[in-house]
Amino acid sequence: MNKAKAYSAASATSPLASTTITRRDPAERDVQMEILFCGICHSDLHTVRNEWSSIMPTVYPCVPGHEIVGRVTKVGSAVTKVKTGDIAAVGCMVDSDGTCPECRADLEQFCPNATFTYNSPDKHLGGVTYGGYSDCIVVNERFILRVPSNLDLAGAAPLLCAGITTYSPMRRGGVAKGKKVGVVGLGGLGHMGVKIAHALGAHVVVFTTSPNKKEDALRLGADEVVVSRNTNEMQKHAGSIDFILDAVSADHDINAYINLLRRDGNITLVGAPVKPLPVAAFGLLFGRRSLSGSLIGGIRETQEMLDFCGQHKITADVETIPIQKVNEAYERLLKSDVKYRFSIDMASLKSE
Ligand SMILES: NC(=O)c1ccc[n+]([C@@H]2O[C@H](COP(=O)([O-])OP(=O)(O)OC[C@H]3O[C@@H](n4cnc5c(N)ncnc54)[C@H](OP(=O)(O)O)[C@@H]3O)[C@@H](O)[C@H]2O)c1
Ligand SMILES: [Zn+2]
Ligand SMILES: [Zn+2]
Repeated sequence: MNKAKAYSAASATSPLASTTITRRDPAERDVQMEILFCGICHSDLHTVRNEWSSIMPTVYPCVPGHEIVGRVTKVGSAVTKVKTGDIAAVGCMVDSDGTCPECRADLEQFCPNATFTYNSPDKHLGGVTYGGYSDCIVVNERFILRVPSNLDLAGAAPLLCAGITTYSPMRRGGVAKGKKVGVVGLGGLGHMGVKIAHALGAHVVVFTTSPNKKEDALRLGADEVVVSRNTNEMQKHAGSIDFILDAVSADHDINAYINLLRRDGNITLVGAPVKPLPVAAFGLLFGRRSLSGSLIGGIRETQEMLDFCGQHKITADVETIPIQKVNEAYERLLKSDVKYRFSIDMASLKSE
């Protein structure tokens, strides 16, 4: 067993604070990593504050973080994927049974026995898994990803959740040249969605509640930007969009977006607001439109996404912060005041 430095929350209302946790010794197929950067996903905040209590209650202490990039410090004797000294990454999952139909279809995120990177039963140590707000992690090599060497590491970390969560549904939704694609909510996920949809060759329309993000949206790869509170601007796109990615973290009117879809168009929810969203039946009936959801992506597709981002030189736009600023970062995330992802420089944990 090894002691690791970390930041944890003791309850739904307490701030994150410095702590010490235990990591297992690497077994045969395990990889031990020194964590260099960890992105802050809005899911970290939902979990720390137990906002998804009805579906996934939070077990405290909670060490969040699932956008992890680091350096391999030790490998088990049977590991072949990476070697000591390599740069590697870990996303939202650290284990699955590897045998069920979902695993066999490379969709480990739907495995009934999947272990998520944090707040998931820990099969090795008991209790729950602890995530990336830490200086070290030990993970089975099946869940280790390779990071293209041309990518900046602070900006690459968010690809492990925000990148795959937007890449996967867009590939599945046929986002490509000749398609008109909407991205709702220009946050961590949304801004990755814009970059990836643009790189896939689509015509991208961003829908934002923040007029001050207009210029950024265009710079990130949007062809058009709509301030969603402006009904006239919204109406211009009625019945015209092939695929919409909804990455909003809070309550909002999804019907306004369903009405922008063309016949057989699809809107995929990746945002996970706490309150159920009412859906008007007729918006779906007319035009045979569909509403779907999507959860991160499997390991094979996550590697495909990382390689795609390497080829297209795509990383997140990050504000790199020391871990000591994490509580302030959460408050700013709630105000949509981050351009466009916080990435924690884990070297800052050394002083704790
Ligand atoms: N499905 C999955 O696998 C998966 C994976 C990761 C995260 N998530 C979920 O996806 C959501 C987004 O995560 P994130 O990390 O991208 O969060 P984020 O950085 O906070 O971005 C959310 C964006 O939603 C918009 N927004 C916020 N409050 C709003 C409101 N009241 N009305 C309308 N728009 C609002 C804002 O964009 P504008 O300023 O442009 O309006 C904001 O930047 C979270 O719920 C998270 O838990 C899901
Ligand atoms: Zn996430
Ligand atoms: Zn499985």
